[in-house]
Amino acid sequence: MTTGTALSDFTQRLDQTAEDTEALLGRLLSDTLLPDEIARPKRLMDAMRYSSLGGGKRLRPFLVVESSAVFGVPRDSALLAGAALECIHCYSLIHDDLPAMDNSDLRRGRPTLHKKTDDATAILAGDGLLTLAFDIISRDEIHKDPTVRLLLTRALARASGLGGMVGGQMLDLAGEGRFGDREPVDVARLQQMKTGALLRYGCIAGAILGQSTSAQYQALDDYGRALGEAFQIADDLLDVEGDAAALGKQTGQDAALGKTTFVTQLGIAGAKQRVSDLLARADSALSIFGAKGDVLRAAARFVAERKN
Ligand code: IPE
Ligand code: IPE
Ligand code: MG
Ligand code: MG
Ligand code: MG
Repeated sequence: MTTGTALSDFTQRLDQTAEDTEALLGRLLSDTLLPDEIARPKRLMDAMRYSSLGGGKRLRPFLVVESSAVFGVPRDSALLAGAALECIHCYSLIHDDLPAMDNSDLRRGRPTLHKKTDDATAILAGDGLLTLAFDIISRDEIHKDPTVRLLLTRALARASGLGGMVGGQMLDLAGEGRFGDREPVDVARLQQMKTGALLRYGCIAGAILGQSTSAQYQALDDYGRALGEAFQIADDLLDVEGDAAALGKQTGQDAALGKTTFVTQLGIAGAKQRVSDLLARADSALSIFGAKGDVLRAAARFVAERKN
């Protein structure tokens, strides 16, 4: 496979997963009540739809779909698991943008949810997406073996919570010095938690769904860690050098808030070097899969070179 065909194949596959994820989330957030549900308040559902439909690269669902494809997992199961992960991601963005956190006005080229509605609605929409994610990931359609569903669910909880994304968001805010004295920040750990954990989950989800060998799981774990770190460094570089219109969000926010990132610690050139080292690490982690790892290889390049 040449680089050219790999790239067009990659773009086509990313677009297809984005389209399928959009349709699936649209159905999951419809008026239809599930057993044991009492009512779906319109204002809340509209807010959840606003922040989960109509935008986003859908990179996390894509990683679930493509890591699953390596093991021949049915696409519909992977899409469902990807939709659960995307719900967590969208919730994390809603809360990240709140005035009490990064105080951002623009997301995916539109007003952030709290700007469009109000803080309380945005907090509850985040809560609603978080809990919906666990409803989805535990559904029978995900996998016929309940043990697989349990492993997937537990891994999602750990990627999302105290020792994962939420914990990382706390370290991110502490790194601004807003809770008192600024302590030395372990940026690698902070980023591994706030961003890396969900992206890594997207990669190991395929290994769990595909009931992989431990060597295959380890390979996707290594790949996911490298990709996750590269992704956040690229985000930090885009905050400095990117184009707000292409990004669909404000730039220059990290410096304004006094965030500690690899850009502040290593400078632009140093941060770019770290991204290319991580890209090489992601690549070599996939060697065990041979040509079956080509799309994931292209995904790592996309993460390193993205403009939005
Ligand atoms: C933005 O994530 C938040 C970070 C973790 C840096 P994405 O860049 O994946 O956002 P969308 O989903 O494409 O909008
Ligand atoms: C966000 O990191 C990470 C999570 C939402 C968990 P950022 O604060 O850098 O993301 P953007 O730049 O607002 O998208
Ligand atoms: Mg933030
Ligand atoms: Mg932010
Ligand atoms: Mg950012």
